Amino acid sequence: MERRFIYLDNAATTFPKPPSVLEKAVATYLAMGVSPGRGGYDMAVEAEELVTQIRGKLARFFGAPDPDRVIFAANATDGLNLVIQGCVSPGDHIVSTRLEHNSVLRPLHHLKQRGIIDYDLVPFDGRGFVHPVAVAEKIRTNTRAVVVSHVSNVLGTIQPIEEIGRVCGERGVPLIVDAAQSAGVIPVKMTPWQVSAVAFTGHKSLMGPSGIGGLVLNRDFEVRTTRYGGTGIDSESPFHTQTYPHRLEAGTLNLLGIIGLSEGVDFVLAEGQDAIRAREIELVTRLRDGLSRLDGVKLYCAEDLTGHAGLLTVVVEGMNSQDVGTILDADFGIAVRAGFHCAPLVHADLGFGKVGGVRFSPGPFTTRDDIDAAIDAMSTIAGSH
Ligand code: ALA
Repeated sequence: MERRFIYLDNAATTFPKPPSVLEKAVATYLAMGVSPGRGGYDMAVEAEELVTQIRGKLARFFGAPDPDRVIFAANATDGLNLVIQGCVSPGDHIVSTRLEHNSVLRPLHHLKQRGIIDYDLVPFDGRGFVHPVAVAEKIRTNTRAVVVSHVSNVLGTIQPIEEIGRVCGERGVPLIVDAAQSAGVIPVKMTPWQVSAVAFTGHKSLMGPSGIGGLVLNRDFEVRTTRYGGTGIDSESPFHTQTYPHRLEAGTLNLLGIIGLSEGVDFVLAEGQDAIRAREIELVTRLRDGLSRLDGVKLYCAEDLTGHAGLLTVVVEGMNSQDVGTILDADFGIAVRAGFHCAPLVHADLGFGKVGGVRFSPGPFTTRDDIDAAIDAMSTIAGSH
């Protein structure tokens, strides 16, 4: 008999991808997979034009004014490193939050250890939200930027980016948003929300392949080059090209990834972000209701799912979460992410910093039966230890 496999780890990466996304991407790549911008022959020019069109699509998608400021990178972590390392100078201060992923915490820690910057992390409240006033209180005269994740990858809470953008706008401090968990399921509106930079990844709710993501910048936010190499432009110069997007890109682009990302965006636009999110919230609500009836299962920040994206983190009392994850996989064929989710301050602040959490994250292809199977499995695990 085929082993059951229920995938509830879409917050790590969406799986499966819509076959049409990858099929169309591979067909285009087979037809014109040459190096964009690196040759004068027709196909290289066409490949470059395609990449330019896709930059335009992404600028529109994120509500940004300038397609040239859509920078391709490997993922959101890569985009965050580009912007954080490329905007700070010695003596600068950064404000971020205790909800952040290591994609923000580690670059900040590294820069602080090197004596380059100092930073403050704003706490979140008991429901998993960061307050704009608390952000404002931490801004100093030398604050170079505020960095906030749009959606917590542990709690699913959607942060008030528009209000934080207003605070940053009033103080003249650029706002950098980590949209790893939101892009593709919750609209991001850079210009109206006064966001200076958005880091995104293609392989989560944008439904593209892994290995592609990037950074979108507003026109008034200058970021220094921190990686140097070929851009296909000014080859005789020893200096890295300083016009955007090349200023922040070095080496041959991930063309297959870029095309896959573009197809993923088309899929999301056709389905509708609101419709995708509504379905995921319906599934998470069903899961929340089922799990909250179980003795010994503790839910975090899930009493009210207003302002949430579709994921839920729980602890089975008396058990290490990694063990729960292993049992869900081995005995029930259910894939979740257990542990600290690369965002350990969240678990520490909510009091489960020793055991970690078990995160369930449905995606566009999850069914109600999958959710019911997860509830049954958790009932058995919580009832039998
Ligand atoms: N950041 C990803 C997660 O939350 C990988 O699982």
